[in-house]
Amino acid sequence: MKRLFSNLYLGLLVLCWSSALQALDLDDQLRLVIQAYGLEPALCEVDARVVKHGNPELGRLLFKSPVLSGDYDTSCGSCHQDQVALADGLPLAVGVGGAGKGNERLASDGVVVPRNAFTLFGRASAGFNTFFWDGKVMEIQGKIYSPLGEGFAQGFRSPLAVAAVLPILARDEFLGRQGMLNGNSHLERINSAYYADKVAAANQVLQEIIRNPEDPVVRELRALLAARGQTPDDFDLTMVGNALASFIAQKTAECPQTRWERYIEGDPSALTKTEKQGAVIFFGKGRCAGCHSGNRFSDLQFHSIGVPQGDLGPHMHGQDLGRADVTYQTEDRYRFRTPPLWLVSKTAPYGHNGRFETLDDVVRFHLNPIPFFVAHKWTSQRESLTYGKVLASRSFRLGFIDITSEDELTALIAFLKTL
Ligand code: HEC
Ligand code: HEC
Repeated sequence: MKRLFSNLYLGLLVLCWSSALQALDLDDQLRLVIQAYGLEPALCEVDARVVKHGNPELGRLLFKSPVLSGDYDTSCGSCHQDQVALADGLPLAVGVGGAGKGNERLASDGVVVPRNAFTLFGRASAGFNTFFWDGKVMEIQGKIYSPLGEGFAQGFRSPLAVAAVLPILARDEFLGRQGMLNGNSHLERINSAYYADKVAAANQVLQEIIRNPEDPVVRELRALLAARGQTPDDFDLTMVGNALASFIAQKTAECPQTRWERYIEGDPSALTKTEKQGAVIFFGKGRCAGCHSGNRFSDLQFHSIGVPQGDLGPHMHGQDLGRADVTYQTEDRYRFRTPPLWLVSKTAPYGHNGRFETLDDVVRFHLNPIPFFVAHKWTSQRESLTYGKVLASRSFRLGFIDITSEDELTALIAFLKTL
């Protein structure tokens, strides 16, 4: 009896000890990762340029009110909603003509904007210099490249400020529905102007908006300008962009501290053992950090994981060529900016076209795309016949992912939920 007890005791001791050792081991491994990559919290960090030059109260009003949209029916907040981490919870966004929130928008009569919306948390942080799935706004060596021309020279104070005004100039996101005979006056003037000319056209439209004294939102806007010693004459696209950017920066005050960031700040109890195992896989044999690298879990570069195209993309035949739409380089076809993984568990569905409903679906697709098609089939005959082109674009880096058990995958997904 005594022997049994002492054996049990010893067994228990060994058990506790070995799991303690293992836990210690995981923390040690992760400490090394954190040091090697110089990881630090960045989700709630803010670029000083964005804050210094904008009027966040003006930005808040413009963000929440439909005053800038051609048919007075869309605001930034229609697609970047507070309750879904400033995304919209939809596979593809629903723009002008849409109504309501979340799935209500899908059922409404709105125009589909053929990409999956991002959260805006973290976008005001320093070094976040590449915007949109295709990187059409990018800061490189002191210049902001964008479809509007160079941004700093025009008076935008950050790449975020340029990114923030592009939706206002887009037909489906803001300007309004194009009819055969009727379109509204914003649509006609801005949509038909090219590149930098769009800025002048938009400035004209903004001047008309701010001079409409009937509108109560306009009265509020004018009061906010007056409070800073500005007049309606000053109300132009760069002011709007800088204001929206500073509001997005201010939103950061509501930014949640994630468990992963608490962990890297030195709280080992912020993650469970499984989540820590997932982190070791993410940075190790999973090779995820090869692309989802650094504090923001993105190299801000462009890669293809071979996401099926569907039939609703912005390009001909409903395709979305991704980065190639900006560079016109064949090798950039189907490449998209590595999405940052901050708050990723809150921003389903996934992929540039929202094709994946769950984290599990999209992560498995990186490892092996075949089971996805077995389960979900093709959206059309066209997709089944053309998918080979997309498949050929898949990054060779995906070939180094070495996840070999369901337990590893479970741990990896658990880790993603802490970001
Ligand atoms: C119709 C829905 C819709 C509306 C309205 C909308 N957005 Fe977006 N937003 C999106 C989608 C979809 C994307 C991704 C588009 C892409 O990358 O091509 C996006 C991307 C962005 C990005 C880039 C984020 C990143 O990680 O690169 C910023 C910044 C942004 N929106 C700000 C705004 C602001 C500011 C407004 C209001 C002026 C606005 N959006 C209005 C749907 C919308
Ligand atoms: C070759 C670079 C690369 C590697 C390696 C990589 N990813 Fe990705 N990942 C991407 C790109 C690019 C996308 C977006 C593709 C698209 O939508 O067309 C993406 C999308 C995702 C998404 C969806 C995010 C969203 O907001 O839609 C998740 C989650 C994700 N990856 C997790 C992982 C995990 C976990 C690993 C490791 C097993 C990994 N990735 C390895 C490049 C990579």
